[in-house]
Amino acid sequence: MMKQLLLQGTLSLLLCYWVQVVVDASTQHGIHQLQHLPAFIDSSYSRIERHTLSSSTTTDDDDDDSPSSRQANFDKKSCGNISHPPRIIIAGAPASGKGTQSEAIRDALGVVHISTGDILRENIAKNTKLGTTAKGYMDRGELVPDELIIKIIKERLQEDDCKERGWLLDGFPRTRTQADALIDAGIDADCFLILNVSDKVAIDRVVGRRIDPVTGKIYHMSFNPPPQNDAALINRLVQRSDDTEEKARVRLRQFHSNIASVKSRYKKVMVKVDGTKSRDHISNQIKIELSKRCGWKNEQMRS
Ligand code: AP5
Repeated sequence: MMKQLLLQGTLSLLLCYWVQVVVDASTQHGIHQLQHLPAFIDSSYSRIERHTLSSSTTTDDDDDDSPSSRQANFDKKSCGNISHPPRIIIAGAPASGKGTQSEAIRDALGVVHISTGDILRENIAKNTKLGTTAKGYMDRGELVPDELIIKIIKERLQEDDCKERGWLLDGFPRTRTQADALIDAGIDADCFLILNVSDKVAIDRVVGRRIDPVTGKIYHMSFNPPPQNDAALINRLVQRSDDTEEKARVRLRQFHSNIASVKSRYKKVMVKVDGTKSRDHISNQIKIELSKRCGWKNEQMRS
């Protein structure tokens, strides 16, 4: 009996020592190396990895009501040096600059840019059933019902281009139900970018925004004017029907009543960005963050 106890004690000590060596090595050489360890050691270290990751990302305590199980599956994949194509979410108030920054991210990383607002507007233009239903909500500045948009996005993310090139979700998830639908489907994100602007900045941007219907490029008559020597471009610019101050205020109310619960789902991969800075300043900050979080080095990105 005594011998057996001694043997068990020695084995435990040896295991502890080995584990310590592994932890030291992983701390020195980067936590991603843990993936090469035997499966049972890998899983026993997920808590250590989780702790390291959560302390290295920006967190937010606005709304702490999320069940821990909903966040658990992000932890392991939120580190740099990921082995899959990037999976990015960009969020923010109406006209905070999501679309503008999405253009830069898409061009730099080659990810598939999926904008729910654009998908809905395309459906309105084509007079589809979805478009007809969505139009009323959008014209009032309200959100379209969750069930209309969740299915579309879940299916879109399963397509080959998203699997091969990675994706950038712009404007989704926008409610707690939408975020939970993604998480429950096992669709994780490597980075949740949130562009912060005041309501006043948002309104100023909404009313001056113009879009080129041919290229989809976004302009602002004061902050990002179209090239003055391109008369054809200037003449074809359009203003969105929901880009009035009145509708922007409704959209802002919707945003404020939903964003805390969405952010609570992505605390561990959240990056807060000051959306009031210049377009290029924001793009650079985002590139630096993505290079850390999505395992992409700046020099690999097209500038
Ligand atoms: P959506 O099209 O997503 O609208 P939004 O969220 O209100 O965002 P915006 O497109 O207005 O702005 P943005 O942040 O992309 O800013 P942008 O880069 O253009 O959704 C529209 C509607 O569809 C919703 O109201 C809802 O009805 C429905 N919908 C969509 N998704 C849904 C979902 N998931 N669930 C339910 N309903 C959904 O920039 C704005 C202006 O500012 C531009 O003129 C730009 O040039 C300028 N600008 C940008 N950055 C800067 C800068 N740094 N400095 C100065 N100016 C800048």
